[in-house]
Amino acid sequence: MKKLIVANWKLHPKTIGAGQSLLKDLSPAVRRSRAQVVFCPPSPYLAVLKEKFPKLTFGAQDAFYAEEGPYTGAVGPEEMKSVGARFVIVGHSERRSKFKETDAEVNKKAKLVLKEGMTAILCIGEPLEVRKKGIAASQKFIAQQLKKDIKNISNISKLVIAYEPIWAISTSDSGLMETPEDAAAMIRFIKKLKRTRVLYGGSVDMKNAGEFLAYKDIDGLLVGRASLSAKEFGGILRSA
Ligand code: PGA
Repeated sequence: MKKLIVANWKLHPKTIGAGQSLLKDLSPAVRRSRAQVVFCPPSPYLAVLKEKFPKLTFGAQDAFYAEEGPYTGAVGPEEMKSVGARFVIVGHSERRSKFKETDAEVNKKAKLVLKEGMTAILCIGEPLEVRKKGIAASQKFIAQQLKKDIKNISNISKLVIAYEPIWAISTSDSGLMETPEDAAAMIRFIKKLKRTRVLYGGSVDMKNAGEFLAYKDIDGLLVGRASLSAKEFGGILRSA
């Protein structure tokens, strides 16, 4: 199966024009890449980017857990789908920490995304204080989180898990980096709990992407910061 490389733009770039030029610069690298590539821009950009770049695949960074109703400011999975998203990231650690999302909400979101026939990219990962206690403690945390997040989800053919140790997200400058060996070991552990595709995410860049992708258990990458640079992301796509 092809490696899956997902670009998570987060709250960047500030204008749709900047998003368009990034995609224009990256289009040749996407065409040449052997990987499946998904771009997750800020949701207001989705419709226009899909129209301008019909051959690219898009995803949403999040979607609300209700189909419709009195939820000011929320955007549901079906709405994301109608503007071109085929993937939706759910349970990103930034949503959990900064927006106080619970496992029960993440579970509802994942279910709704799958119900819409879209692919859910479910993010799980342990915080630093757990990792400091060791691998066994981290595995226990991951197993419990996953159990809650995929509760009563039976059709997992469109479920992708992204293992993102929280302490390793956007930290390449601080030096706190997950090693490819440890990431692959945790991903093997996750696959024993649930047979599905599992990506790695956390400070991946063009220099280290190849080391992660060399492990056959690592089915792809979820890339934040490095996905905002055509040079970096283009380099990651070449590694795949
Ligand atoms: P990063 O982000 O690549 O900047 O560490 C990854 C993510 O948050 O999905």
